[in-house]
Amino acid sequence: FAFTAANQAWAEAQITKYPEGRQASAIIPLLWRAQEQEGWLSRPAIEHVSEMLGMAYIRGLEVASFYFMFQLQPVGSVAHIQVCGTTSCMICGAEDLMAVCKEKIAARPHELSADGKFSWEEVECLGSCANAPMAQIGKDYYEDLTTARMGEIIEELAAGGVPTPGPQNGRYASEPLSGLT
Ligand code: FES
Repeated sequence: FAFTAANQAWAEAQITKYPEGRQASAIIPLLWRAQEQEGWLSRPAIEHVSEMLGMAYIRGLEVASFYFMFQLQPVGSVAHIQVCGTTSCMICGAEDLMAVCKEKIAARPHELSADGKFSWEEVECLGSCANAPMAQIGKDYYEDLTTARMGEIIEELAAGGVPTPGPQNGRYASEPLSGLT
């Protein structure tokens, strides 16, 4: 693994932001940039970042494996779908959304679809509990999902489209609840 020249320069600039002896604090932005470049974090990528920061590989891996926004295996080339499975979403149908992912993508989380375009996983609360059930795709949230809408979103993505993120039923959590105004 090697950063592109531009990413290497960016990474080196990040490191200078931290006081002497505290360079390891730059690990999250550097891992993130490596993942943006490659799509996921391979062992060589984590080794490279760790080495830049004067850390052992195992220390870099500890950070990379702690946060579910870091992917330690290849993800779908079109989309990696992260379905929230925590309480609000679980109660509102997360299992049903994952059943759609199992049917349309792959039987197990982190497995690639047959065409390599999709993968999925269950993740912990993404902080959008008022609009449960929901899933994150790339940097976007898709909320108030139904199984039908989940299937449509996968199909839209497969056809090269970009489904509109946000609440899928038009509801925004910031809108006052009826009867409370
Ligand atoms: Fe799913 Fe919080 S429980 S977003």
